[in-house]
Parts: sequence; C-alpha cells; structure tokens
Amino acid sequence: MDLAISGNSAIVIASSSGLGKAAAESLLKEGVSVIINGRDEKRLQESADELKKLQAGRVIAVQGDITKKEDLKKIVQTAVDEYGRIDHLVTSAGGPPSLSFLDSEEEDWYYAFDLLLMSVVRLVKEAFPYLKKDGGGTIVNITSISVKEAINDLVLSNSVRMAVIGLMKTLSKELAPELRANAVLSGFHETKRVQDLFEKQIADGKFQSYEQALDSKRKNIPLQKIGSPAELGDLIAFLSSPKSSYINGSSIVIDGGSSASNL
Ligand SMILES: NC(=O)c1ccc[n+]([C@@H]2O[C@H](COP(=O)([O-])OP(=O)(O)OC[C@H]3O[C@@H](n4cnc5c(N)ncnc54)[C@H](OP(=O)(O)O)[C@@H]3O)[C@@H](O)[C@H]2O)c1
Repeated sequence: MDLAISGNSAIVIASSSGLGKAAAESLLKEGVSVIINGRDEKRLQESADELKKLQAGRVIAVQGDITKKEDLKKIVQTAVDEYGRIDHLVTSAGGPPSLSFLDSEEEDWYYAFDLLLMSVVRLVKEAFPYLKKDGGGTIVNITSISVKEAINDLVLSNSVRMAVIGLMKTLSKELAPELRANAVLSGFHETKRVQDLFEKQIADGKFQSYEQALDSKRKNIPLQKIGSPAELGDLIAFLSSPKSSYINGSSIVIDGGSSASNL
C-alpha cells in the first residue's frame, strides 16, 4: 500500500535504537525524510549510517537529551533549516527505571515526568508553529500497555504514561481538524532495552539462557511470539499517513493479545 507521505518530513525523538528507530525506518521506506535522535553520539551515527543505506528519504541525526528543552529546540530547528517543513512528530523515550512504589525516590518521579511527559509537551510546543496544518500533520506517541494494565515494579511507567495519554487525547481535540494525534501502546518487542533486561535477568540467575528468557515471555502472549519492532514502525507510518485520516485520539494496542483489558 502506498501511504502517500513521500516527500514529507518527520521528527522521531529517542530513535537511535529500538521502537523509535523502527518508526524512523518505516517512515523512511515511505519516502519521508527523518530527523533521528539519541544521547550517545556513536550509536546515533551508526544508526543514521544504517538508515541511509535504505536510500529512501533523507536522514539527519541530531544528538541530544529529550529531557532538556534546549536539545528539543535544536532538533526542531534542524528540521526547519534542513527540510523546510515538519509533517510528522513521533515520540519515543528511554524506559524509566523499573521500581516498586516504596523503592521510588522523589527524583525518580521528576526524571520520569521529564523523560516521558515533558519531552512530548516541549516537542509539540516547539514544533507547532512549523507543523503542516492541512489535515496531513500528525503526532504519534509511543507508550506502553502499562496505561491499560499496571505492570509489576513499573510504578513510574504505570503512572506517568497515563498523563501522556491524557495529553494526546487533549491534542487530538484542540489541534483538530488541522492535526491528528494518536498513541501506540506497545507490548513486548525485542529491542535493545529488552535484550539488556534479559541479560540482567540471566546475570541475576533468573534465567539460564537468552532463549529461556524469550520463552518465558512468549508463553504469556496468545500469538506465542515477541513483537518485531518493524511491525510497530509500520503501524506508526500508517497512523502518520492519510490512509488513517479518520483515526484521531486513539490508543492502539500492539501486544500480540497479551493484555487482558477488554478495551
Ligand atoms: N521494547 C518493548 O517491548 C517496550 C514495551 C513497552 C514500552 N516500551 C517503551 O518504549 C520506549 C522505547 O523502548 P525501546 O525498547 O525502543 O528502548 P531502546 O531500544 O533502549 O531505545 C531507546 C532509545 O531512546 C534513546 N534515549 C533514551 N533516553 C533518551 C534521552 N533522554 N534523550 C534522547 N534519547 C534517549 C536511546 O538512545 P541513548 O541511550 O543513546 O540516548 C535509544 O535510541 C521506552 O519508553 C520503553 O519503556 C518498550
């Protein structure tokens, strides 16, 4: 299916790896020029080089920390200077630390707030004057199924991501009909974050091998498989395209059926 977004431009924050990178790749394959971002310069450049090999849209890497307002400004300014337009925003983030409520300190909460919520608030405010407002401009927030079902030891994700959904829903009303806003609620996708988590669990003796760790997750997923980041990237490209022009203010779960929530 031609998504009819070729020639557009997109900012994807926190995208030198994982779900953000997969979103950038899917958009690129549709001929969209992308800005990718991350803190680690080496990883960011490697990812940019890899994405450039697709020879689709243009790729520009902007190093920066999405918890910092000035870094988000730099990202937006680069898109404006280099592409002269911004059609799509995609927000990913690092994962907040895994903590129970009693183990969480006040600074953990402020960090999660800056990382997950304020990064979206600041990016949208900064990019808004430049966002294409002819009905083709879109915002997609990558969040987690933790907004549907609280996950053990993830009090920060369970709590702060709810605010991202509230923000997305508000944007979908206040900025329509010129712009659309949606969220994708990710289940288990095999990214670097997940690989690091498994390595830690193996080191802690919870699993004996990577394959055993994968199996323990697979068995709780009705489709019996871990999600591929590319599938989530393709969903984001679809939500960024006019093919999804009647989808606005939606939270779309992509988890192989693993969450028990009816809605
Ligand atoms: N993978 C899953 O199964 C899954 C499931 C549910 C929810 N999620 C959520 O989806 C998001 C992405 O997860 P992922 O699996 O794609 O993680 P990942 O593979 O670790 O990728 C995270 C990306 O974000 C960048 N990043 C992290 N903190 C940043 C910051 N402060 N400023 C700029 N860039 C930053 C990282 O690069 P640098 O470290 O170099 O900055 C990296 O490019 C996370 O919030 C995660 O909790 C993931």
